[in-house]
Amino acid sequence: MSVPMLVHEGHASARRFFTRANARSYNSVVRVATFGQDFAWKHEIINAVGSSKSVLELACGTGVLSSMLVVTDKTVVGIDLTFEYLQASRRELHAVIAQGTAEVLPYRNESFDAVASSYMAKYVDLQRVVDECWRVLRPGGVAVFHDFTYPSGVTRSLWDAHFAVLRLAGRLVTSWRMVFEQLDDLIKNSDWIDQTKSALHSRGFRNVDCRYYTAGTAGIVSAEKP
Ligand SMILES: C[S@@+](CC[C@H](N)C(=O)[O-])C[C@H]1O[C@@H](n2cnc3c(N)ncnc32)[C@H](O)[C@@H]1O
Repeated sequence: MSVPMLVHEGHASARRFFTRANARSYNSVVRVATFGQDFAWKHEIINAVGSSKSVLELACGTGVLSSMLVVTDKTVVGIDLTFEYLQASRRELHAVIAQGTAEVLPYRNESFDAVASSYMAKYVDLQRVVDECWRVLRPGGVAVFHDFTYPSGVTRSLWDAHFAVLRLAGRLVTSWRMVFEQLDDLIKNSDWIDQTKSALHSRGFRNVDCRYYTAGTAGIVSAEKP
């Protein structure tokens, strides 16, 4: 399936970062680079998804979150921009997956109880994604967005030091070099939390909620379609 062309600077970053060369190592790298917090954050996403039966995961990548959702007895559909990441997920994932972009979803109106994403918000046109979430969600459905945030205070120095180490690691593991060299700036310059909240409010979502985790290094924004 061909992916529609959309002009958004986040797409260029996503295309540079996620490649055939690093698809197979993604699951291990995200676990190690977040000191295992990825697993805890994904559990929080699942809590926010709640009792929803059918879940669409945007930017599902290699299917880490999708497989956790499947285990909780949900019907899961995943979509991602990067074919090689979807390919890396195929063997073990019991979810229907498609290649495509989160801004133009190939699904019918009101076809899901929840739409969730992890580490996608900083790469996308959030207003368009929120509009699409509204369209594909049933009334009462929930939208859940998770991504990294740049912490303040003491944690900020530790966070900066962590990325300095990752940058060095990128010199050895060349398939991750570009990610480890550029991800920190992308996170620092992203105001995805405010943009998501404002897009959700303006589209008419209610109960817009924002929570921070692990000393402000990640956040989850969730909301309900009335
Ligand atoms: C860091 S990976 C996260 C994968 C997965 N969500 C997880 O938590 O492990 C980011 C993913 O976002 C995808 N992505 C970026 N922009 C996208 C877009 N506009 N539409 C769909 N997927 C996108 C990339 O292809 C990549 O697989």
